Amino acid sequence: MVQKIVVVGAGQMGAGIAQTAIVHGFSVYLTDADESQIARGREGINNRLARLVDKRQLTASDKDQALQRLTAVDSMRSVVQADLLIEAIVEQEHVKRALFQDADQWFGPETIFASNTSSIAITRLASATKRPDRFIGMHFMNPVPVMVLVEVIRGALTSVPTLQTVLDTARAMGKTPVESDDYPGFLANRILMPMINEAIFALQEGVGTKEGIDTVMKLGMNHPMGPLTLADFIGLDTCLYIMDVLYEGFGDPKYRAAPLLRKMVDAGLLGRKTKRGFYTY
Ligand code: CAA
Ligand code: NAD
Repeated sequence: MVQKIVVVGAGQMGAGIAQTAIVHGFSVYLTDADESQIARGREGINNRLARLVDKRQLTASDKDQALQRLTAVDSMRSVVQADLLIEAIVEQEHVKRALFQDADQWFGPETIFASNTSSIAITRLASATKRPDRFIGMHFMNPVPVMVLVEVIRGALTSVPTLQTVLDTARAMGKTPVESDDYPGFLANRILMPMINEAIFALQEGVGTKEGIDTVMKLGMNHPMGPLTLADFIGLDTCLYIMDVLYEGFGDPKYRAAPLLRKMVDAGLLGRKTKRGFYTY
């Protein structure tokens, strides 16, 4: 049974996963390569839990107890033992592989490794370790405390007990897991990201304004956010990396990233997290 979780990456996803886990009784160690992100992640969790208390969705005492279960650490090497490591760092395969190689040296064989990758092959990430049977994809949706889905992806060598433990852990976090096979983009982003990319092509070609494109999908399809607003919310770097994984993985030109998306990432316009993307925040 999972009790102690290490979350590596304290960006929007890592902080959201940590928040959800502590509220549901897990002990969490949260870390990031960038110290300021750890502080920001912790502050965000504090603020969001305080809002839940204001809205009477959480008692003050439950909030305090949840925060006591959160430990911010400057490195995963400060953690002696853990049942589950959830990786939520940048969506770049070489960076994730290096992290898992390092973690494999540090953590005992009992620790299950889960990646929150949006698109990268779990089988390939697992091959960076000597524990491919205890390696799995655990793909949370953004914002994690609100979205109920967790996509669970078995790599070629993931064992049935690992799958079962992670399905149980997702449910214990109040989530509904859905299994996906290990193909580029899994299910969620294979379907979502080409839609966002097409919206960016439509903007680039001048078919409509950004407001027009977003309004069509909000009012016409009842999406809570238009695709360009959603891209800003996800992070344009993450959207681009996912499109590149789909393009490379399927070898099909229908997955080519919109040049405007690549240009914006090159310019450092990454959406909400840099305060500028398709919109200004
Ligand atoms: N963290 C925690 N809670 C948040 C939050 C955040 N970042 N943002 C909003 N919320 C909460 C609010 O506190 C509020 O809670 P209550 O209803 O209890 O008051 C609730 O969400 C609704 O928020 P708002 O009223 O402020 O705004 P909204 O009605 O527009 O909802 C939203 C915000 C939930 C984000 C909604 O716009 C939405 O569902 N957007 C689409 C999100 C989506 O598609 N996510 C998937 C992205 S793709 C992905 O995650 C996979 C990938 O690999 C890229
Ligand atoms: P983010 O940019 O908000 O955070 C990434 C964090 O990783 C940063 O704080 C960065 O400092 C840290 N980091 C980078 N390299 C590191 C390393 N070697 N060791 C430790 N920390 C490192 O990104 P995010 O949106 O939180 O995305 C994180 C992961 O979650 C990605 O794989 C992404 O594809 C996936 N994901 C994102 C979303 C989304 O909507 N943004 C949804 C589901 C899954």
